[in-house]
Amino acid sequence: MEMTLDFLDQLKEKIRSRSASVGVVGLGYVGLPFAVEKAKVGFRVIGIEQNPARAERVNLADNYISDIKDEELKQVVESGYLQAMIGFDAVAELDVIVICVPTPLSINLTPDLSYVEGVTREIAKRLRPGQLVTLESTTYPGTTDDLMRPILESESGLKQGKDFFLAHSPERVDPGNKRYTTKNTNKVVGASDPLSLEIATSFYKQTIDHVVPVSSAKAAELVKVFENTFRAVNIALVNELALLCDRMDLNVWEVLDAANTKPFGIMPFYPGPGVGGHCIPIDPHYLEWKAKEFNFNTRFIGLAGEINRRMPGFVRNKAWRVLNEVGIAPSRAKVLVLGAAYKKDLADWRESPAMEVMSLLLADKAQLSYHDPYVPQIQIHGQTLESQNLTDELLETSDLVIIATDHSQLDYGHIISKAKAVLDTRGISRKLPLSPEDQAKVRLL
Ligand SMILES: NC(=O)c1ccc[n+]([C@@H]2O[C@H](COP(=O)([O-])OP(=O)(O)OC[C@H]3O[C@@H](n4cnc5c(N)ncnc54)[C@H](O)[C@@H]3O)[C@@H](O)[C@H]2O)c1
Repeated sequence: MEMTLDFLDQLKEKIRSRSASVGVVGLGYVGLPFAVEKAKVGFRVIGIEQNPARAERVNLADNYISDIKDEELKQVVESGYLQAMIGFDAVAELDVIVICVPTPLSINLTPDLSYVEGVTREIAKRLRPGQLVTLESTTYPGTTDDLMRPILESESGLKQGKDFFLAHSPERVDPGNKRYTTKNTNKVVGASDPLSLEIATSFYKQTIDHVVPVSSAKAAELVKVFENTFRAVNIALVNELALLCDRMDLNVWEVLDAANTKPFGIMPFYPGPGVGGHCIPIDPHYLEWKAKEFNFNTRFIGLAGEINRRMPGFVRNKAWRVLNEVGIAPSRAKVLVLGAAYKKDLADWRESPAMEVMSLLLADKAQLSYHDPYVPQIQIHGQTLESQNLTDELLETSDLVIIATDHSQLDYGHIISKAKAVLDTRGISRKLPLSPEDQAKVRLL
């Protein structure tokens, strides 16, 4: 026990004095902002990234994540506080290793933990006493304890909570959110032994205003997948309402806006063309898969996924209904889609419902073009499409403009004034002072 306390005290002191060296594995949307945040307060940070182009860009302070300020990246790289490397040789020198690698789904919606497992093996080969390893990637309850711990212990011969420390702290970053950043978003930390929890909590407290410890890594893992499930289910609920309102010829936006005036017992969620990004369409299925091991069906998750996946098809059907009113067949229609990213003001088009909408329109042989100020190029069905300049001519010659993503920098009043017909899947037009003539051109989802 004395040895453990020595390790613990030494690591605690290094963390407190910020002389601990920190490794961040995976320099993506989660890892790079985290690495910059730690480097900014004086930790020496080594980023371990398998993509050589990304590692090189970090070392040149060439920013590729919009949530990071260019100046801040430049400052931490030039001062030597942040350096990126390929490969795991630096692990033995590190005091804390934070894992931020992808946790995707396989094509049959089962968890693909190959990145987490591969990285854990690399770390295990080099693990030394007195190190803290934390997992930030979103995953099902049991990954840290049942997958990572046995690999780390058997490969190194060291024991968790005695020789090294292991914790899970799910990342909650909301890309593009200006109000809540890494620093002022409460951070949950869980570990299955008290010393790991203590040391991980003290590490996160260095850069985060409020850290919330929970009693196990499994609880921390469940917190994160529950949060994303909560969003997926509530979005599905309003999407279902949108499908019903369409049949009842009611305006779902009016209904929701009025419902949201209730000062208690309701929370605003809005319908849209589907869900996208890495979290909402994927993470709940991690929990759904794990629950099956306990002979338990998570029916809300399955249902929410089913409804949300129906939305791109609904947008396509509604688009054809609008075109039908003016007698244009899908295969002759010129359709302009605004926004390819899954969320406004971001460049990320992973799992974007706008992409699914475009894919369906192309399958119907529409003459498709798109504009997205953040996404210069996309690939659909093996075809490469370039973002078009949003000229008045493009708007005037398109039979239908579909607002798929409501990027803030577009002038929607002007777009509607020039367009022949607009299908607004985000409800952005309802906030505009439109003339009756322009109002008549717009169909809401
Ligand atoms: N993006 C978000 O908004 C968000 C929010 C909360 C949680 N998360 C979770 O965080 C995790 C990471 O997501 P992300 O969006 O940052 O992913 P990302 O794809 O943007 O970044 C992951 C990085 O890890 C690198 N990588 C993969 N395998 C590696 C290896 N073996 N060694 C070193 N580097 C490796 C990739 O090259 C990539 O740069 C996921 O589990 C995700 O669910 C993401």
